[in-house]
Amino acid sequence: MQEQIDQYTGEINAFSPASAADLETFRIKFLGTKGIIKDLFDQFKSVGPEEKRTYGKVLNQFKQLAETKYAELKETFDSGLKPQDSELDLTLPGEGFEVGSRHPLSLTRMEIIDIFKRLGFVVAEGPEIEDDWHNFSALNFPEEHPARDMQDTFFIKKNNGKDDIALRTHTSSVQVRMMENGKPPFRAIMPGRVYRNEAISARAHCFFHQVEGLYIDENVSFADLKQTLYHFVQELYGEGTKVRFRPSYFPFTEPSAEMDISCTICGGSGCNMCKYTGWVEILGCGLVDPNVLENCNIDSKKYTGFAFGMGIERITNLKYVIRDLRLFSENDVRFLKQFQTEII
Ligand code: PHE
Repeated sequence: MQEQIDQYTGEINAFSPASAADLETFRIKFLGTKGIIKDLFDQFKSVGPEEKRTYGKVLNQFKQLAETKYAELKETFDSGLKPQDSELDLTLPGEGFEVGSRHPLSLTRMEIIDIFKRLGFVVAEGPEIEDDWHNFSALNFPEEHPARDMQDTFFIKKNNGKDDIALRTHTSSVQVRMMENGKPPFRAIMPGRVYRNEAISARAHCFFHQVEGLYIDENVSFADLKQTLYHFVQELYGEGTKVRFRPSYFPFTEPSAEMDISCTICGGSGCNMCKYTGWVEILGCGLVDPNVLENCNIDSKKYTGFAFGMGIERITNLKYVIRDLRLFSENDVRFLKQFQTEII
C-alpha cells in the first residue's frame, strides 16, 4: 500500500494539465467515486489494526494532497489563466524597454519650425509629386531655360511641355499652391522632402529635406528679409553668429542672394569645414519676383515679399559636425543613438 501511495504522490506532484479536460480526467482518476482514493480507502477497511494506525494518517495526507492540487488547478483554469502563467515569478526584475531617439533631421526641423513659429510663421505642406506649373513655370522658370537644369529633376512624365510631372525639386512649389489658394498677407514655412537626380556621395544625395519660407504683405523689403534671417541664425546657432549676403540668381526672386554664416566650427578663424574661409553657406533667398506674384494672381503693385530656402541636412551637419550625408538615411543605430539625449 505504501508503495502505491508513493507512486501516486509522485504522479500528482508532477501533474501539469494542458487543459481543463486534462484536469477533469485527473479528478475522475483520483477523486472520482470509482477513483484511486476510494479504492485505497476500501483496501484500508480490510487491513489489521496495527496497519490501520500507520496508514490512516498517510492515506488522509494523500487524499488531502490530491484535493488541494485539484482545487488549485481548478481555480487557475476558472480564472482564465493557463497553469504556466501562475508559475510566473512576479518578484523577478522587469525587462527594460529601450526608448528610441529622434532622428537628427527631425530635431533640426522641429527647431527651425519652432523659431519661425515664434515669429508668426505657420507651417504649410504640399505634394511631393508635382506638375511643371507648380515646380517650375509659376516660379518664373521659362521653358527651355537653363535654370531648369540647375535642379536635376526626376521626371515621372516628360513631354517637354507644360504637363510634365516630376518629383518636386524644392518646396517652393508649396509657396505657389499657398499663394494660388489664399489671399495675402502670407507668412509661412514649408518643410518637406525634395528630390534631385544626383549621384549619392558624402556631399550629395538624390533626396534631401528643405525648409522654405514665404512672407508676402504690403511694404515688405529686403531689410525685413535680412532681419528675419539674422534673428533666425542667432536663435539656431547662438548669439554672435555673423551673417553675410552674397548676390546670387534664382528665377523666382529678384534680387536674389545666398546667405553665409560665420563657421559654426571654428568661429570664423578657418577650418576644413569652412574650407579655411571662415564662412559657410546655409541658404538661398530674395524678394519674390513680381512675375511669380502675378502668376499666382497677386497684385504685384500692392504686395511685395521675400522667400528663402534651406537644406535641413546642411543645417544639421553644421550643428552636429556630421560630414557624410549618407549617414542620415542609413539608419545605423550607432549613429542615431548619439541623439538620444535630445528627445523632446
Ligand atoms: N528653391 C531654392 C532651392 O531649392 C531655394 C530658394 C528658396 C531660394 C526661396 C530663394 C528663395 O534651391
